[in-house]
Amino acid sequence: MKITYLGHASLAIEVAGKNLIVDPFISANPLANSIDILSLKADYILVTHAHQDHILDVETIAKNTGAKVVSNYEIVTHFGTKSIEGHPMNHGGSWQFDFGLVTYTNAIHSSSFPDGSYGGQPGGFILQTAEGNIYIAGDTALTYDMKTIPLQTKLNLAILPVGDNFTMGFESACIAADFVQCKRVLGYHFDTFGYIEIAHQKAINHFKKSGKELLLLPVGESVEV
Ligand code: NI
Ligand code: MN
Repeated sequence: MKITYLGHASLAIEVAGKNLIVDPFISANPLANSIDILSLKADYILVTHAHQDHILDVETIAKNTGAKVVSNYEIVTHFGTKSIEGHPMNHGGSWQFDFGLVTYTNAIHSSSFPDGSYGGQPGGFILQTAEGNIYIAGDTALTYDMKTIPLQTKLNLAILPVGDNFTMGFESACIAADFVQCKRVLGYHFDTFGYIEIAHQKAINHFKKSGKELLLLPVGESVEV
């Protein structure tokens, strides 16, 4: 499995010959201006919640690629009205896709669409595949719910927000790594706006002190699982 950081909370995942895009917010992110959304391959677009900084480029990418949106019922219904195909889920539910098993997890956050309409409850995803298992937390606080994840699967990588203010910060993410029992963490949801700028080396050292690894990838760079 190859995971490429597309800035903010946006990811491209290659697994089992399929291409997944997660929470595309690229065209309005100056830090991601090296990424051309029309060049992205996608069979599925995973959406954690309805906020603008997670859904901005969903429609463009879906219409360009024919990708299916995987998200909560409300978000899939919203994109369905724009003739975009989707697979609706809700918290705690899993579905076997052709690339692996996806579970929609709890997140402590909010999830309204940019126009204020209801975007369901926010979530995250666990992906269990033949090439490894990952947790994509979505925008969330540190929550005891995370402790149920290692009861379900052994993770190879946890993708956690580290930017603070709108989500947990890196100190809480370091505790979340203990909760999900995964020592390898890819940080996301940082630096995009002034509110979420972080000191990279300080965050990396904080993880190192307790024997964990925090990866903060430059936009466009990848990590293998
Ligand atoms: Ni959000
Ligand atoms: Mn966000």
